[in-house]
Amino acid sequence: MPVTVVIGAQWGDEGKAKVIDLLSKEHTYVVRYQGGHNAGHTVVVDGEKYALQLVPSGILYPHVIPVIGNGVVVDMPTLFNEVDMLESRGNSCSDLKVSTRAHLIFPWHQSHDAISEAMRGDDKLGTTLRGIGPAYADKMRRVGIRAGDARDPERFARLIRERATVENKLISEAGGDELDVEDMVERFSTYGARLVPYLSDTISLLHNALAEDAHILLEGAQATFLDLDHGTYPYVTSSNPTAGGASVGSGLGPRDLSRIVGITKAYTTRVGAGPFVTELFDDDGKMLSEVGREFGTVTGRARRCGWLDCVMLRHAVRLNSLTELSLTKLDILDGFDTVKICTGYTLDGEPVTDYPDQYDVLERIEPVYEELPGWKTPINEMREPGDLPAEAKAFIAVVEREVGVRINVVGVGAERGDYLIWETPGTAS
Ligand code: GDP
Ligand code: IMO
Ligand code: MG
Repeated sequence: MPVTVVIGAQWGDEGKAKVIDLLSKEHTYVVRYQGGHNAGHTVVVDGEKYALQLVPSGILYPHVIPVIGNGVVVDMPTLFNEVDMLESRGNSCSDLKVSTRAHLIFPWHQSHDAISEAMRGDDKLGTTLRGIGPAYADKMRRVGIRAGDARDPERFARLIRERATVENKLISEAGGDELDVEDMVERFSTYGARLVPYLSDTISLLHNALAEDAHILLEGAQATFLDLDHGTYPYVTSSNPTAGGASVGSGLGPRDLSRIVGITKAYTTRVGAGPFVTELFDDDGKMLSEVGREFGTVTGRARRCGWLDCVMLRHAVRLNSLTELSLTKLDILDGFDTVKICTGYTLDGEPVTDYPDQYDVLERIEPVYEELPGWKTPINEMREPGDLPAEAKAFIAVVEREVGVRINVVGVGAERGDYLIWETPGTAS
């Protein structure tokens, strides 16, 4: 199983980083393949919290070579802040590789993100305002500046100056504040010089590693339902977190991907606007938010909360060819008298089998719930499947039954070691 992919199966923040940290033990390369510093990936080690936005979550293991793949959009100030933060805490980033093909984010992308959100008025997408959408739009329009361009400082400065001048006009026409072109040229040329030692043809690097049977872990950011093509458009991000994107954004071929792990919380959250079938506005929702500490890692925004939605998960299995699921934050359900799992959808009273293709239809969908007794027991210290209360096991069994793939790991707390390896009854050796 040389290549493992980890993909969010919901709307992000499923606890991908914790599972990646766990899987990193048996992988040499950990590769981000899409997204940028809109991601906030948290790993907690001995009470110390690491919130990573760009550097792959495997960085906390010295044997891991962290790779930022061609599909990522890189904000250099954030990258170097993160490198400095990690190194000051004893985690060397000297092995970090950044794809020459990755596109760079510049301040004008952030200006456009803010302008575009402001122009939507009450209909904001609720982006992270990090410039992600505009940077990918430039890549599509074939006017982006790539990391590899930093290798030629004169040309790099010229490209920045040219783009900045054009973008400044557009920004001022849209009523935004003009940026200081020469200041940007200077600052980003300095960042560019710092980037050069990290640059790598990561596609050759990864294929050479595969040829030597190295184990590679592809780290998804965002999630299936934030995917530009498969998510709840337009309330999505501008990249493809789904498995096809893992191939495109890393340069590994589709047949190289062997194990594809979807990550889901035991409930559902979403940051930003967009449809959310199982969203709760009652005390149960408040309890999920408070006990689950559901506030964004990147923006600090409150995450919307609701029950687990197996219709979404079934769709995520199909879209990503998931081989298994990791179920995180089961401990957050410890205090509930009863818990619900959405097993189906109805529209105008009629059952809906396929995941709806339009957000306005999703907004009219009603969830069909299966209600299960809660376990009312803290599970944080439990490390063996057999330790779990019968009600928690029953919850997991319903998820496996509804989604149709096995659950490999169950998260019972935020710390690195707070998980148990779940053996599906009947499959234990
Ligand atoms: P990611 O973006 O998918 O990597 O997830 P985030 O790091 O944004 O958010 C997940 C949050 O849940 C983080 O604060 C994690 O420390 C925390 N977390 C992850 N798994 C568990 C778990 O099983 N139980 C609890 N209580 N917290 C968890
Ligand atoms: P991780 O990797 C949760 C959401 C934003 C917004 C939408 C578009 O930590 O799971 P963007 O700035 O990407 O154009 O915003 O996507 N979003 C995330 N939500 N987790 C994330 O990343 C997210 N990255 C973007 O809130 O709704
Ligand atoms: Mg996150």
